[in-house]
Amino acid sequence: MKVGVLGSGDVAKVLAGGFLKHGHDVMIGSRSAAKLADWQAQNPKGRVGTFAETAQFGELVVLAVKGGAAMEALQAAGGANLKGKTVVDATNPIADAPPSNGVLKFFTNLDESLMERLQRKFPEAHFVKAFNSVGNACMVNPQFKGGKPTMFICGNDDAAKKTVAGVLDQFGWETADMGKAEAARAIEPLCMLWCIRGFIRNEWIHAFKLLT
Ligand SMILES: NC(=O)c1ccc[n+]([C@@H]2O[C@H](COP(=O)([O-])OP(=O)(O)OC[C@H]3O[C@@H](n4cnc5c(N)ncnc54)[C@H](OP(=O)(O)O)[C@@H]3O)[C@@H](O)[C@H]2O)c1
Repeated sequence: MKVGVLGSGDVAKVLAGGFLKHGHDVMIGSRSAAKLADWQAQNPKGRVGTFAETAQFGELVVLAVKGGAAMEALQAAGGANLKGKTVVDATNPIADAPPSNGVLKFFTNLDESLMERLQRKFPEAHFVKAFNSVGNACMVNPQFKGGKPTMFICGNDDAAKKTVAGVLDQFGWETADMGKAEAARAIEPLCMLWCIRGFIRNEWIHAFKLLT
């Protein structure tokens, strides 16, 4: 697939690297190409572009920017460039405030997730929440003694979720489809739970698994 990854942070770089590793064609996007000069040097097969060029390039688009800037980044990417496309939403609505006893603060509430806001603003894109509830070091083919971890996903479009489940399969994850966009109200806060162990114990290599 042609994959456009919006973002220049660790998550964007790690996921872009994962897509390259699995044989996809990748463009990664930022407001400032200079931020991605090292990534480009290390990944000569990948391309670097603006948010708009990256969204236009991708058949699949990955959103990996700061949660508070997600709307702005998608506006820069351009609604027309997202139309009909699957958008893997790895963002979390983390507020600009310090955690309290290791518990992050969100700028959303339990009746409205960030992904629902984005889906409402860009109704022709097919958002799928994924990769938000694990650290970037464990996103691509992680190895855990407890076996394959579970990625909780949700979104309104079944075909888009199938595409993302295929990606997760390549990236070494089990997929648990939790339903429509509203489920992001529960999946986004998994990031808070995941981070508590990091803040309190300084342990950052772990993931969730759904046992049935
Ligand atoms: N860090 C992790 O391990 C982890 C794990 C799971 C999920 N997440 C989530 O994944 C997302 C990315 O996290 P990250 O740590 O890689 O990076 P980050 O520091 O949260 O975000 C950096 C990105 O945000 C963009 N950005 C910031 N302000 C902007 C604005 N005003 N307008 C447009 N874009 C703006 C930057 O764009 P430019 O490139 O143009 O500067 C950059 O690409 C976040 O939502 C985070 O909560 C992170």
